[in-house]
Amino acid sequence: MLRARRTQRLQDHHGWTSVETGVDVPILRMGVILVAAAIFAAPASPFALAGEAKSPPQSKALPAHLDHEGYRLLLDKPYVKAGFNQELFDQLYQSWEDPLAEQAAKATPEQRTQMAYDRYGLTKAPGREGGMPLQYTNDGKGGWSINCFSCHGGKVAGQVIPGAPNSLFAMETLAEDVKATRRKLGQFSLRDLAAGVFPQGGNVGTTNAVMFGVLLEATRDKDLERVFDRPYPKMVHHDMDAPAWWLMKKKTMLYADGFAERDHRALMQFMMTPENTGQRIRNMEDDYRKIYDWIMSLEPPKYPFPIDHQLAEKGREIFNRNCSECHGTYGENWTYPNRVVPIEEVGTDPVRLTALTPEHRRRYQENWFSYYGKKKVVTDPQGYVAPPLDGIWASAPYFHNGSVPTLWHVLHPDQRPKVWRRSIDGYDTEKVGLEIETFDEVPATVTTKAERRWYFDTSGFGKSAAGHTYPEVLSEEEKTAVLEYLKTL
Ligand code: HEC
Ligand code: HEC
Repeated sequence: MLRARRTQRLQDHHGWTSVETGVDVPILRMGVILVAAAIFAAPASPFALAGEAKSPPQSKALPAHLDHEGYRLLLDKPYVKAGFNQELFDQLYQSWEDPLAEQAAKATPEQRTQMAYDRYGLTKAPGREGGMPLQYTNDGKGGWSINCFSCHGGKVAGQVIPGAPNSLFAMETLAEDVKATRRKLGQFSLRDLAAGVFPQGGNVGTTNAVMFGVLLEATRDKDLERVFDRPYPKMVHHDMDAPAWWLMKKKTMLYADGFAERDHRALMQFMMTPENTGQRIRNMEDDYRKIYDWIMSLEPPKYPFPIDHQLAEKGREIFNRNCSECHGTYGENWTYPNRVVPIEEVGTDPVRLTALTPEHRRRYQENWFSYYGKKKVVTDPQGYVAPPLDGIWASAPYFHNGSVPTLWHVLHPDQRPKVWRRSIDGYDTEKVGLEIETFDEVPATVTTKAERRWYFDTSGFGKSAAGHTYPEVLSEEEKTAVLEYLKTL
């Protein structure tokens, strides 16, 4: 089992916390660029991407927000090297556990593809007929190149919403299955070395994205050209729930701790995979201006179920008295204070805050991403941003680590589940959020890592669902009204 296999050691000196995982040891001996290569793509030479895919025909009458050039770029242009190809994807079921593998073997190819989509958190791509799921881009030769939607686009109550956090993405399960299937087929890829070595995401829907960034940044100089002589950076692996993209237009500073000023260059960190030279990254700046414009134009999705507007109106007043100082006000003359709340005060899981050290942040501050120091970078943030709550119904689970499955549980701090498991498309309209089952601990019948990732265990490292006790001052009646109001945002 995942947790048993890792030896976790916490240290607490120089103000940071580190977890050393036993499995990290072999990669410490490899150069940092090799590790990055192993995780993100094979370092094929020449270090350039082959042809860029042509846009497949667009479906007619797309809603305006999907007809935007920024969206088309994300969907159709590969920015990183493909991790595997269609042929391999179609064979992945061979590595599944039984009875799933047996069922898949008997299923039609279409059913099998759907089973794979369900297992990995993949969806159809709105505005793209057929072809790859939203979360991947064809590299022009049938290769699957991961795109931003793997973490930033997925299903909410069964509806695909580009820009919503992909709360179903099973990144590590996919990487494991790719590795196992390649092995079965007698193939080898350097990338597979990483599966099982560098944790990618301990739970479905959350990823170790912040540590990917730290690793990749350690392979770059100030101009983002690759360097080969750096020591392996300090790693504190932990999983994050991606924020909804429609909130970006209200934020002046990005990320859970608001450490980096909002700018299109911040979005380009994803491109630091080994095959991209600094030059290629910098040359893509115009694309990312368009992508940024698209993200800035996104509107939150509307709550699709009935709302009691009278009750919501009561909730609005209670919200404005108790919550607005941090989360702002909503409606035509909205306000948003961009507040960072000290960690001791908010009391949610502290791992993300300390995992990114001042040294990591300084590196970001000094390089091309922040215009060599011209953009604001906070190297020692004290807590977490109180995010805007627009479309909050659609971005469950809650808090930066995705530890709380519904808004009702946000409002009832002492009743948050210790261990929970969600359904794929179910939506709980009573509690407003994911439809879940709760447990005292992960059931003993869960034996595979793939299945284990469906259980969110709040006792895990970086997984605490504690804190944010502000709703405790409200009566039950007031909470019910606030819950109704939250549906309208
Ligand atoms: C492997 C998952 C993953 C991929 C792929 C990914 N992101 Fe993210 N993204 C995250 C996570 C997790 C965060 C939150 C990090 C934090 O707050 O520390 C985030 C944060 C962001 C933010 C900050 C939003 C805010 O409100 O603070 C933006 C903007 C963003 N990502 C854009 C992109 C773009 C554009 C791409 C593709 C070029 C991309 N991301 C690819 C996981 C991912
Ligand atoms: C003192 C500031 C403060 C007050 C007051 C406050 N919050 Fe928050 N809230 C935060 C912070 C900070 C976070 C982010 C915590 C994290 O991600 O770890 C947060 C997170 C949330 C989230 C989850 C957001 C997400 O995208 O995951 C919800 C929902 C929320 N608050 C609702 C409320 C409600 C309702 C009230 C009033 C009863 C309230 N908050 C009062 C600071 C505050």
